[in-house]
This record gives sequence, structure tokens and C-alpha cells, in this order.
Amino acid sequence: MLNSLAYEFADASLRLVRAGGRFIEMGKTDIRDAAEHPRLRYRAFDLKQAGPERTGELLDILLTAFAAGTLRPLPYTAVDLRRARDAFRQLSQARHIGKIVLTVPRPVEESGTALVTGARGTLGGIVARHLVTGWGVRRLLLLSREPADRLAKELTALGAEATVVACDVADREAVAAALAQIPTAHPLRIVVHTAGVLDDGLVTELTADRLDRVLRPKVDGARHLHDLTRDADLSAFVLFSSAAGVLGGPGQADYGAANTYLDALAGHRRTLACRPCRWPGACGSRPAR
Ligand SMILES: NC(=O)c1ccc[n+]([C@@H]2O[C@H](COP(=O)([O-])OP(=O)(O)OC[C@H]3O[C@@H](n4cnc5c(N)ncnc54)[C@H](OP(=O)(O)O)[C@@H]3O)[C@@H](O)[C@H]2O)c1
Repeated sequence: MLNSLAYEFADASLRLVRAGGRFIEMGKTDIRDAAEHPRLRYRAFDLKQAGPERTGELLDILLTAFAAGTLRPLPYTAVDLRRARDAFRQLSQARHIGKIVLTVPRPVEESGTALVTGARGTLGGIVARHLVTGWGVRRLLLLSREPADRLAKELTALGAEATVVACDVADREAVAAALAQIPTAHPLRIVVHTAGVLDDGLVTELTADRLDRVLRPKVDGARHLHDLTRDADLSAFVLFSSAAGVLGGPGQADYGAANTYLDALAGHRRTLACRPCRWPGACGSRPAR
């Protein structure tokens, strides 16, 4: 019995052990006198007792066992440091499984690549310039249906390196191919999705084609970017939604729906707490896709 419970729960744990069994107490709150439990082998331990050298040896044994797949790491939930309050609340209510790990947001790295969709558009251009002048980003991948050559030239003049790709963001294969162009030396660190199309109309006037026109770049594009980058260690994944999704705009039924999807996707992505662990496939806590 490996125990960390206390008081009547520790009593219950003790009762569970058969005569001659071992009871290992890892808790600190309720350490018992081994002499009072002659029926079993009672031992409380403190990790520090082993000393740094032996602890190192033990960690080596564990790492070898993890690498060989003999042991699987405990499931964990990684929570952004800025949500530490929620994490501690969950911990205090014992609503978690495994460990809760606080992660520090990755700062924007100059060596990383920023992907901007809708780069020929108004906001795509503004964001790209801001990434370079305000955030020091030096490598950008600009996606739009027609190549964003003019913006690329501007960014080059500002000291950045911009790669231009003509790509329909609603086409998953095309987005995957564009992402595959990012050199490993400058991994993807920022995604900004501004691509969008308007085709305003009241619900009664909408046709499948009109809905499709609006939903494809915004919704399908966002979904592909999300799917294809969810295991990337990003500093930022930014979706350009609109208040139209919350407030509603006359004649913007399709656009409203598209933006509400983006809001929901952003919330969903935030709740996907698990980051890829160092043992791909071994971590029990990866949420279903
Ligand atoms: N401007 C605003 O005041 C405002 C307010 C709220 C929300 N927003 C949102 O912010 C985003 C950007 O707005 P904006 O004013 O900059 O729009 P914009 O000037 O019309 O630019 C949108 C860009 O999206 C690109 N695009 C459309 N479909 C695409 C596709 N399938 N694949 C790749 N690119 C595609 C277009 O590229 P091409 O040039 O190649 O066709 C266009 O350059 C939109 O999502 C919009 O809903 C804007």
C-alpha cells in the first residue's frame, strides 16, 4: 500500500493490507508508529533521506524505464500560468487526474516564424507590419489567395524576411503544404488568421452557396490551422473574429455564424490543456481530437 491519506482514511488503508504486507507512507500529516502495526511492515519515507546521489540514480532508472516504454508518465494537465487561480481551485477540489503543471507563456522569439492569413487584406497587412515593428518578428509566411507581394516588399524594407504563398486557407492540403515550407531552424511560433469574406444576407435569403462562401475561409480555414498547429509550441494563436457574432448585425447571418464559430474555437483551444509530452503516444492525458 502506497499511502498518502491521513486519519480515518489512513486507518482504512491500513486495514486493507494483508498480514505481512508492506505499507509505505508518503504523506507527512499522519505518520504512525511502526511498532503499533506489527501485523505488517510499516515504513514512512522522505525523499530527501535517499540523498542527492541515490536520488539521481533513481531518476536515471525512471528515465530509462520511460524511454523504453516500460513506465508511462502520469497524465498531466498543463495550465497557462495566467490561469493559475483556476488551476489551484481545481487542485483544491481534487477535480483533476494526475498532475497539474503550470506553463509559462512562450515569449515571442525573433528566430520563429509568424504565419498571417488574409495577408492582402487590410488587417492582415496591419498585423504583419505590427509583428515586425512592434514585436521584432523577423520571419513571416504570408497566405492569401493571390500572393501578397506588395506587403512582402514592405516587410523586407522593414528588415524582415517574408515568404509569400498563394493559398486557399479552406483547403487543408494547401495549408499543410504551406506549413511544411517553414524551415525547422525558424519554427512556427505565431499564427494570425484574418482571412475572411463577406456576403451579407438575411437568413431567409441565404443559400448553401452563400453560406459556404463566408464559412469556408473563416471557419474551415481556422479549423485547419487549429488542427495542423495544435502540437506546435506557439506563442500566439490569434483568430480575427467580429462583434457581429455576439451582437448580430442586420443581414449578417452567415458572417455572424462564422464569427461565433471562431469564438467557440478559441475557447476550445484554450481548454486543450495538454501539450505534447516528451514521450509521444505514451501520455495518457492527451485529449481526443
Ligand atoms: N475590418 C474590420 O473592421 C473588421 C471588424 C471585425 C472583424 N474583422 C475581421 O478581421 C478579418 C480581416 O478583416 P479585413 O477588413 O482585413 O478584411 P479584408 O480586407 O477583406 O481581407 C480579408 C482577406 O482574406 C483573404 N481571403 C479570403 N478568402 C480567403 C481564402 N479562402 N484563403 C486565403 N485568404 C482568403 C483575402 O485574400 P485575397 O486578397 O487573396 O482575396 C483578403 O485579403 C476578417 O476575418 C474580418 O471578419 C474585421
